[in-house]
Amino acid sequence: MARFVLALDQGTTSSRSILFRKNGRIAGVAQREFPQLFPSPGHVEHDPEAIWQSQIRTARAAIKKAKATAADINAIGITNQRETVVLWDADTGKPIDNAYVWQSRITAAQCERLKRKGHEDMVRSKTGLVIDPYFSATKIRALLDKHKLRAAARRGKILAGTIDTFLLYRLTGGAVHATDYSNASRTLLFDIHKLDWDQELLDLFGVPRAMLPEVRDSSGVFGHSDKKLLGAELPIAGVAGDQQAATFGQGCFREGMVKNTYGTGCFLLMNTGERAVESKHGLLTTIGWGIDGKITYCLEGSIFVGGAAVQWLRDGLGILKSSSEVEKLAAKVDDAGGVYFVPAFVGLGTPHWDPYARGAIFGLERGTTRAHIARATVESLAYQTSDVVTAMLQDASLKLKELRVDGGATVNDSLMQFQSDLLGVRVKRPVVSETTALGAAYLAGLGTGFWKSTKDVTDNWALDREFTSSLKPAKRKKLLAGWNRAVERVQGWAE
Ligand SMILES: Nc1ncnc2c1ncn2[C@@H]1O[C@H](COP(=O)(O)OP(=O)(O)OP(=O)(O)O)[C@@H](O)[C@H]1O
Ligand SMILES: [Mg+2]
Repeated sequence: MARFVLALDQGTTSSRSILFRKNGRIAGVAQREFPQLFPSPGHVEHDPEAIWQSQIRTARAAIKKAKATAADINAIGITNQRETVVLWDADTGKPIDNAYVWQSRITAAQCERLKRKGHEDMVRSKTGLVIDPYFSATKIRALLDKHKLRAAARRGKILAGTIDTFLLYRLTGGAVHATDYSNASRTLLFDIHKLDWDQELLDLFGVPRAMLPEVRDSSGVFGHSDKKLLGAELPIAGVAGDQQAATFGQGCFREGMVKNTYGTGCFLLMNTGERAVESKHGLLTTIGWGIDGKITYCLEGSIFVGGAAVQWLRDGLGILKSSSEVEKLAAKVDDAGGVYFVPAFVGLGTPHWDPYARGAIFGLERGTTRAHIARATVESLAYQTSDVVTAMLQDASLKLKELRVDGGATVNDSLMQFQSDLLGVRVKRPVVSETTALGAAYLAGLGTGFWKSTKDVTDNWALDREFTSSLKPAKRKKLLAGWNRAVERVQGWAE
């Protein structure tokens, strides 16, 4: 009897593979970073072969760590960095260029033109998204233009996909060109109400339909992995974008349930059930998942730079040797001493949507130390999250009761405490913080019958620690006022 489900978690900075047991606990994990390429200012690329190699190697390593073989694996789930696109040759499977990564601002001018022509309302009402370089469509167009491949794409000779689609294509030896609703809903090309690629959008962004994948449920068998890869043909039975997968892995199945993931960026999603709620405050309406043809919608706040700001302290400023050192450094001071760090390295997402914002540190004085800057960096994750929560509550006219959290930066207790302080709500951290991978595993295992229903997911969820706040409202107000002044000043900075 197969004991495990294998999740492939292809993230922005690393590829991870995790084997999960039926109780939702980890049996084996392996992780590999791969290079981030910055060919020009504001532009980010990944080598698709590096993505593929790191993913397949970690899959093999995770199986080994669990002392398992392919025979012990019931199904594979894929979850991925979203919006990032790859174009490849339909005959050879060879990428025609590097992947253009979600963080890239390379299509800012293209977006600006579309906005000036007044397309924003139409795009929003169909896709739930805003016109921003973040999403896939303008990146596909940029790649097609660069390589003059539109005619070939129209003939189906060139295929496009987000990373889930690329991995699925490779895993199945080129047999399957598909994606799931959650990933399709991030492209700017998919009508989230009619559940199909939309001709008006395809025309607007100059993307031929023939190059796009078939869109399917997030749970259910997409195809089988080539026997040569992992030693057996295994069903690939779950696919979802990383943030939607985390929402699923956190068991946010009821309307109004919210999770926030603190990884490279921070992404807060609220389940809104069968309703696609349109935001008036800069949130995105997006598909959480589709199961048995039934769609669950979410409202989303996207923060582009979260834990990546801590990485910048390590790699850019060189004041840390590892991300986790930030805790010790920040603990040397009682507070940030009036220092605010707005890490708008690649512009601002929710609620500002300003691709021209850039990062800045405010409030520096003679007495400011590295410790204050470290503290302000950690706090920036919580402040940005607080802005998203404020926008979400205005849209959904709900009261937030609790926030479920996950992701690499949630090991940081003082960040979690500060988050609870700023929001004035309970912050709940589960035992398994790898909820992105876990969500992909659940989608796959539900697709094959390894798990019976979402009740299994709910039953497996276990609390590690809860953070509550006793901060005085006046103090909270003062902190937020400083942050708001800082955020105002970074906007529209870049040319
Ligand atoms: N103790 C810590 N305090 C604050 N941030 C931390 C701490 N430890 C790790 N981080 C941050 O957490 C992030 C890694 O989290 P995680 O592994 O969840 O990222 P991720 O978003 O899954 O990555 P990817 O985008 O590749 O999927 C890094 O940006 C890192 O700087
Ligand atoms: Mg991740």
